[in-house]
Amino acid sequence: MILSDTEIRLASVRLKNFLSFYKGTVEFDPGLTVITGPNGSGKTSIFHAVKFALGSNQREKRYSKWSDFIRHGASSAEVELIVALDGQTRKLVRRIDRDGVPRAYIDDKRVKAAEHNSLVERMGIDVDNTLVFMPQERINALRDMDPIEVRKLVEEGTGLEVLRDRISSQETQVARDKRRLETAVSEAQVVKQEIELLQKDLKRLFRKRELQARERK
Ligand SMILES: Nc1ncnc2c1ncn2[C@@H]1O[C@H](COP(=O)(O)OP(=O)(O)OP(=O)(O)O)[C@@H](O)[C@H]1O
Ligand SMILES: [Mg+2]
Repeated sequence: MILSDTEIRLASVRLKNFLSFYKGTVEFDPGLTVITGPNGSGKTSIFHAVKFALGSNQREKRYSKWSDFIRHGASSAEVELIVALDGQTRKLVRRIDRDGVPRAYIDDKRVKAAEHNSLVERMGIDVDNTLVFMPQERINALRDMDPIEVRKLVEEGTGLEVLRDRISSQETQVARDKRRLETAVSEAQVVKQEIELLQKDLKRLFRKRELQARERK
């Protein structure tokens, strides 16, 4: 989530037998990174590698099986991400072995998919959001998308959706508190009137006692 308090930066991605990569490391400097290269040079492979290593289980049609990510002739594929998370360096690895099952590792320790996903979630990244990772085959689909659908994607991808929910629950709370205040104010009004009446009675009572005292003298 872009709006989260977490400071996160992808420092590098290392690919091993992943798609067209035998071995390769891409370093990311702070700021915007643009990857360019001729057709078939491996740009989309890097895209898939990052998305895969962040725990996504979505794949394009041309990579319908996990084993499609393994470089032809190799038996396993691996992607390693070095992420700077709130000043700490974390290593996220995800690999596909011969059995075609993806396995995840955090800082060299084998972890369950749920643990891996929860770290990525804490980073505020919505890996399966089309705007966060826009597949090549979906670019034209986005152009034809209904604006409301696009807004939904942007809100989900940036975390604005959570803010929208928070704003609406705050609005409900404010309306409830306002109604409570109005009730309290009108109750106070009634009590004030009652006090005024009681004060009148009290005055009369004092006057009566005064007169009785005078009579006794
Ligand atoms: N399992 C695989 N093993 C080896 N090579 C593969 C495998 N799967 C795909 N490739 C090859 O990887 C190469 C890189 O493809 P990729 O889609 O990453 O290129 P690209 O730079 O995104 O190209 P484009 O500009 O056309 O989008 C392609 O030549 C493709 O044939
Ligand atoms: Mg491509």
